[in-house]
Amino acid sequence: MKALEGIKVLDFTHVQSGPTCTQLLAWFGADVIKVERPGVGDATRKQLVDVPGADSLYFTMLNHNKRSIEIDSKNEMGKKVLTRLIEECDVLVENFAPGAIDRMGFSWERVHKINPRIIMASIKGFGPGQYEDCKVYENIAQCAGGSASTTGFRDGPPVVTGAQIGDSGTGVHLCLGIVTALFQRERSGRGQRVTVAMQDAVLNLARVKMRDQQRLAAGPLTEYSQFGEGIPFGDTVPRAGNDSGGGQPGRILKCKGWETDPNAYTYFICQAPVWEKICDLIGEPGWKTDPGYATPPARLDKLNLIFERIERWTMTKTKVEIMDLCNPLDIPVGPILSMKEIAADDGLFATGTMVRVDHPERGPYLSVGCPIKMSESPTDVVRSPLLGEHTTEVLTDVLGFAGEELQRIIASGAVGKVKAAAAE
Ligand code: COA
Repeated sequence: MKALEGIKVLDFTHVQSGPTCTQLLAWFGADVIKVERPGVGDATRKQLVDVPGADSLYFTMLNHNKRSIEIDSKNEMGKKVLTRLIEECDVLVENFAPGAIDRMGFSWERVHKINPRIIMASIKGFGPGQYEDCKVYENIAQCAGGSASTTGFRDGPPVVTGAQIGDSGTGVHLCLGIVTALFQRERSGRGQRVTVAMQDAVLNLARVKMRDQQRLAAGPLTEYSQFGEGIPFGDTVPRAGNDSGGGQPGRILKCKGWETDPNAYTYFICQAPVWEKICDLIGEPGWKTDPGYATPPARLDKLNLIFERIERWTMTKTKVEIMDLCNPLDIPVGPILSMKEIAADDGLFATGTMVRVDHPERGPYLSVGCPIKMSESPTDVVRSPLLGEHTTEVLTDVLGFAGEELQRIIASGAVGKVKAAAAE
């Protein structure tokens, strides 16, 4: 038995943010029924195509363990089928542009009236206010949520991160909201409205930078390398390069082979309790007792020099050798791993964090599995559905349509090109 077994999800999501959420729900065992526009489907099916004619990796990697039903939500018969789905489901998730679901005729008030136990969950770019009507994509959220202004180097422009904190980050937040609402429903018997704005989710993930914004009022941010370099602070949190976000100084340093390998780097943290071990390791035992180096405050204005010295040592070793040498000494380091290296890491396949999946159109591919491991609810990754693959199955098994009524629905064109024979 899976944690969310028996929970039915009407998945009205598309692109990345919403599908990330519903994929997690599916991995936790919910029956996720993805509603797609007949003949078109989620736009990502045909974005960034690598195998002509097959669903893209963009789509397949975000829609595992779901069923797909084609429904035209602007067709009267389509609305009837959707209404039946709302009656049957425990959760409705959508991330259409602001107002789109209302224009379809499925506002929260209407949905709640159809099924008072349903949880209706939405992602929008912004919360209520001056930008509430905007369409929003990943990088816009990273910028509006404060992440881009605090990422990159002080002398360069703002930078967006590769991790999709706007889309996938918001999807994870929404998923938590949904399961929490399901838990509350256990006691109250009532559904509720759950919303997450992408700007808010990014800001939540950038919380430590709001911490620093307020600390600025009390003086310079001494742990930023800018402080040690004697460069004055302005009135907003500056970009901090690869400085660590916490109280312990850290940097990305070159390792053996950096001249030809763009990822021959390691993250290295000068953790105060292991300072003496660091000094011995890099060949500077005198720094252990030298008053200019012995304490964290004394080192603040010398961090560039210190990291240059550590880098002279890291450049003599590979990033893996550095890991092997530092770990036993409790010196925190982390190799910069490329996606190629991660894709070849048997350990990640052993835990299910990386998976190999087979697909009828595209053949085998790699995907990222469920990062949340539950001892009582393990995840089995099942390939993403083809467009409308489960239309008949959902109409009959979930919604109970049969006979003439079923034929009328199919003939209306509201559920795509379902073969009448298949429906019998
Ligand atoms: N049948 C009929 N029509 C359908 C349909 C279906 N099954 N599914 C969607 N549509 C319609 C919608 O009703 C809408 O029509 P309308 O504008 O005439 O009312 C239309 O398709 C387009 O939907 P929309 O959400 O506006 O898509 P878009 O491609 O124009 O915008 C986003 C994409 C992502 C920018 C937008 O959906 C958005 O801002 N979403 C919220 C934030 C978000 O999640 N962003 C990140 C996505 S990773």
